[in-house]
Amino acid sequence: MKRVLKCVKCGREYPVDVPRYRCDCGGLLDVKITKEKKDDFPHLKEIWERRKCSSKPIDQSGVWRFRELVYPFKEDEIVTFPEGKTNLYKLPAYLLDVRALYAKHEGENPTGSFKDRGMTIGISFAKKFGYKMVTCASTGNTSAALAAYAARAGLKAVVFIPEGKIAFGKLSQALAYGAKTLQIQGDFDDAMKAVQEVAAKHRIYLLNSLNPIRLEGQKTIMIHTLEQLNWNIPDWFVLPGGNLGNTTAFGKALMELKEFGIIDRVPRLAVIQAKNANPFYLAYKNGFKEFKPVKAETVATAIRIGNPVNYEKAKRSILYTKGVVEEVSDREIMIAKSQTDRLGIGCEPASAASLAGAKKLRKKGIIKKEDTVVILLTGHLLKDPGATTDFHLGKMEGIPKSAINMPEKIENDPIKIEDKIKEILQE
Ligand code: F0G
Repeated sequence: MKRVLKCVKCGREYPVDVPRYRCDCGGLLDVKITKEKKDDFPHLKEIWERRKCSSKPIDQSGVWRFRELVYPFKEDEIVTFPEGKTNLYKLPAYLLDVRALYAKHEGENPTGSFKDRGMTIGISFAKKFGYKMVTCASTGNTSAALAAYAARAGLKAVVFIPEGKIAFGKLSQALAYGAKTLQIQGDFDDAMKAVQEVAAKHRIYLLNSLNPIRLEGQKTIMIHTLEQLNWNIPDWFVLPGGNLGNTTAFGKALMELKEFGIIDRVPRLAVIQAKNANPFYLAYKNGFKEFKPVKAETVATAIRIGNPVNYEKAKRSILYTKGVVEEVSDREIMIAKSQTDRLGIGCEPASAASLAGAKKLRKKGIIKKEDTVVILLTGHLLKDPGATTDFHLGKMEGIPKSAINMPEKIENDPIKIEDKIKEILQE
């Protein structure tokens, strides 16, 4: 297989093993994979299956098990935990009136989000290129993953986060794993701008999803899910959209799987944004004629992004899969989250945008009763304990009482406790 970095705007090519984030024309880059004569693609599914029986970390990893479509590193070059061994859950029919509903839970990764799948390849590259320091701008999860993988590789990490707008679980991870944490007075979009300037001036490797290498790891979310479905292609894959890295990676994974003859049809992507952080939705609504950044605000801080860097590539994914883009309110997100949580599965607010969006698309008749639907849960419930406790303490407006599980105070008195237990037994 041959790999080059290729500009999606002007088509210019660059070597893949020289660090670069954008084309000289300013366009976004893709890792273009070309099949060579010796490549044995029809047997890839069997090779991937066989590796499940191996105890080697790179075969255990749900990223590197699919390494033919990720990157041909030597075993000792890879920094892995190993990540990507995430489950696909069948969800109950009452949640969505469709043929079958599944949740792919990327919150089950080592640092609690899908970012680990991108960071394992990103940090391996940083090491290969001889960098001593890595960086990113983040709404929280990228910084947590970057901090952990940098610590594992013995690299320094510096992360830029929007002050006061990052969930506590994520902030505590970056601090605990030892990343230098810079709280920028501004939002994610300001942090993203600042970090690109820093990486252009200094020898620090930038690991936002602008970096096309990282997305090669995130493609495995799609590959792994299709494998878990025994390669029965679902009708829909529904995911939250922020900086649009996953949207880009999933479209690319599907194009490659189809081109290389591993699948013969593709699911439609449905990208869900929060109502006040919805630039991709607005562009979709105007037929992608125009893209305008917005000032973002939402309870789902992970996707509080007004100017997604991957816009052009994400648009390509929607067009390729005949996908759709939808928006949901914070209230819809939090109610969908409480339903996912009540199954004992749980997720952070941004993840629940996918269930909220799937419901809305079903109501509109875009998702049909006979469809099979996969929703992506991107982050673990414990990432944002504040959002969950505020919800159950009744601090959010417009939430039905039946969804709230308010804690109750009780005196330390055996009789009062006994009465309470009797009352609960009768509920
Ligand atoms: N869900 C979660 C939990 C996230 O952390 C993110 C992005 C997204 C969804 C959106 O994914 O950017 O690929 O469209 N978080 C980034 C971060 C921006 O810095 O952690 P996307």
